[in-house]
Amino acid sequence: MDVEIIIRPDRDTLVRPERIEHVEFGTLFTPNMFHMKYSGGNWHDAYIEPVKHLQLHPGATVLHYAQTIFEGMKAYRQKSGDIVLFRPEMNIARMNMSARRMQMPEISPDFFLKAIKALVETEANQVPELPGTLYIRPTMIGTAPQVKVAASKEYLFYILTLVSGPYFLGTSGRDPGAVSVYVALDKSRSCYGGTGGIKAGANYAGTLETTSKAYAMKCGQVLFLEARDVPYRERRVEEMGGMNVCFIKNGALYTPRLHGTILPGVTRDSLVKIAKARGIEVHEEDIPFGWVEDGLADGSITEAFACGTAAVVTGIKSFHFDDGRDLAPSSAVPGPITQQLFDAIVGIQFGDAPDEFGWLHKVL
Ligand SMILES: Cc1ncc(COP(=O)(O)O)c(C=O)c1O
Repeated sequence: MDVEIIIRPDRDTLVRPERIEHVEFGTLFTPNMFHMKYSGGNWHDAYIEPVKHLQLHPGATVLHYAQTIFEGMKAYRQKSGDIVLFRPEMNIARMNMSARRMQMPEISPDFFLKAIKALVETEANQVPELPGTLYIRPTMIGTAPQVKVAASKEYLFYILTLVSGPYFLGTSGRDPGAVSVYVALDKSRSCYGGTGGIKAGANYAGTLETTSKAYAMKCGQVLFLEARDVPYRERRVEEMGGMNVCFIKNGALYTPRLHGTILPGVTRDSLVKIAKARGIEVHEEDIPFGWVEDGLADGSITEAFACGTAAVVTGIKSFHFDDGRDLAPSSAVPGPITQQLFDAIVGIQFGDAPDEFGWLHKVL
């Protein structure tokens, strides 16, 4: 893919929140964005320019049939001043996997990485220090006007960046923190043969009602179970609205195996590799909810945590049910393994620990 990126940004506006911990995640956009069009079977017209509103025909496929996919990754400012990306090739491969499933055009991985690096370089002075990060949101939408269920012939690909602090307000970003999680027994986010394994916008739209309900109950996330009409204890644990889930039982790490209905998280994969390298036994397997319920009730599940780019590693202090029940892991939160894994991944990302797996890509 040989597309020239024309760079004509706003270099004067500086986004500098007083306290990064007080910034609501996902709201503080930096001044510039990358954008590029697709038509006639090719990508073309690539720019880095000030963020602008889109002009879309009201019949665009994204507006009617949710033909939209996205990614979420971060740039980190290390103590040395270097700015790095964490395993960007995984996000790029996942975005192209999402594109294939949603009948959208792929982007050459080399060009994709070049575009991300060019934007992060442009926004380098906006990248905050620990516990802040620059959140990067590549997005693709179908733009051709067409009120007919068929793939668009035209697309827009763009990348936004945001100055970000901790995902959960009230946590510091300097430690795992802790949230309560609402267990949804009457809604699922994904099904066999569906789109749960990719990052399609529609997956998230379907969770908003349940997420609002969780927030009203002072829960930070929703735990979804597989979509199967059997007693809830037999249904497999899947993941949360925006992050994967792990449990610690008898010192071993358990996380649902990937079977197409949950997002293959970059953080999940990284923690599995870190845990194995530290001698922690790892089980990626089907986890019926009854296993979780029993392990919480008898104290054998000592820790549970959420993991994702945005949440990093966040301790789960309790699982809350519609009938008012609350079940908590038996260790104080965050537990020792949660803390160990948080320290390990954050250490690599911010340069306090060696990049033992070769995961970092230097931007500047
Ligand atoms: C539904 C869902 N699961 C899991 C994750 C975690 O994935 P990652 O670690 O790649 O951010 C995310 C966030 O991207 C997500 O939206």
